[in-house]
Amino acid sequence: MNNSPIGLFDSGMGGLSIWRELYTHLPNESLLFFGDGVRCPYGSKSKEQILSYTVEAVERLIAEGCKLIVIACNTATAVAIEHLRATYPHIPFVGLEPAVKPAALSSKSGCVAVLATKRSLEGELFTATSARYADRVNILKAVGEGFVELVEQGLENSPEAEACVSRVVEPLIAAGADKIVLGCTHYPFLKDTIERVIADREVEVIDSGEAVCRRVEQLLDSNSLRAESQNKASYRFLTLADESYLQMLEKRAYGY
Ligand code: DGL
Repeated sequence: MNNSPIGLFDSGMGGLSIWRELYTHLPNESLLFFGDGVRCPYGSKSKEQILSYTVEAVERLIAEGCKLIVIACNTATAVAIEHLRATYPHIPFVGLEPAVKPAALSSKSGCVAVLATKRSLEGELFTATSARYADRVNILKAVGEGFVELVEQGLENSPEAEACVSRVVEPLIAAGADKIVLGCTHYPFLKDTIERVIADREVEVIDSGEAVCRRVEQLLDSNSLRAESQNKASYRFLTLADESYLQMLEKRAYGY
C-alpha cells in the first residue's frame, strides 16, 4: 500500500485526457499533473529538447514523491521512455503509444490511420509496432497539423477546428481507413469534432485512455503500490506557465 500520488506529465493540457481516465477509474489514488504549458507543442521540437524537458519534469515529479509516473504524452514517450526506465529504475513508468493493435485487429477495410505528432510517427516505438501489423493492414500516418494548438487555446469545438480536422481526416477516409487512431493525448479533446467530420460514415475513432488506465492498475498491483481503500485522494496541478494556465488546467481536468 502506498498513498503517494501518481504523477502525470504532458507538454500541455493533452495529458488531461489520461488524467480523466485515472480520476474516474481510480478514485482512491492521488494525482499530480505536470503540464509544461510554456514549450508546448513538443511535436516539432528536436529529440534533445524533448528529452531534456521530459527529464526535468520527471525529476520534479519524483521530488514531489510520486510513486508511479505516466508519461501522458506520446511524443515524450517516443523520445524518452527508454532513458527514463534506465535512469530511474525504482520508478514504474507508463508510456503512451498509439493503439495500433486494436485498430489493426478490428479493421474490416484493411486500412487504418494513425494521427500523431511528427516526432511520434518517426519514433522507433511506432515504427516497430506498425511493422508488426504491416502484413495485416495498411497503416496510413498523418500529423494532426494544428490540432495541439487548437486544444491549448480551448478552440476544439470551433469552426476553425472543424476545418482543420477535415483537412487531415477527409483524405484518410477517402483512402479507405475505417479506424482512426488518436496517437497524441491532445487529440481526444477533438474527438467530437472528428466524429462530426466523419458523420455517418463507418469509421471508428480509437484512443489509448482505457488501455493506459489498465496498465497503471497492473503496475500498481505488481509493485504493491495501490492506495489504501480509505485514502482520501488529492489532486494537484503544476505548470511552467502562469497562474491563468494553471487555472485552465484545473478547469479542464474536471470538465467545466
Ligand atoms: N500531447 C502530446 C502527445 O501526446 C504532445 C503534443 C505536442 O506537444 O506536440 O504527443
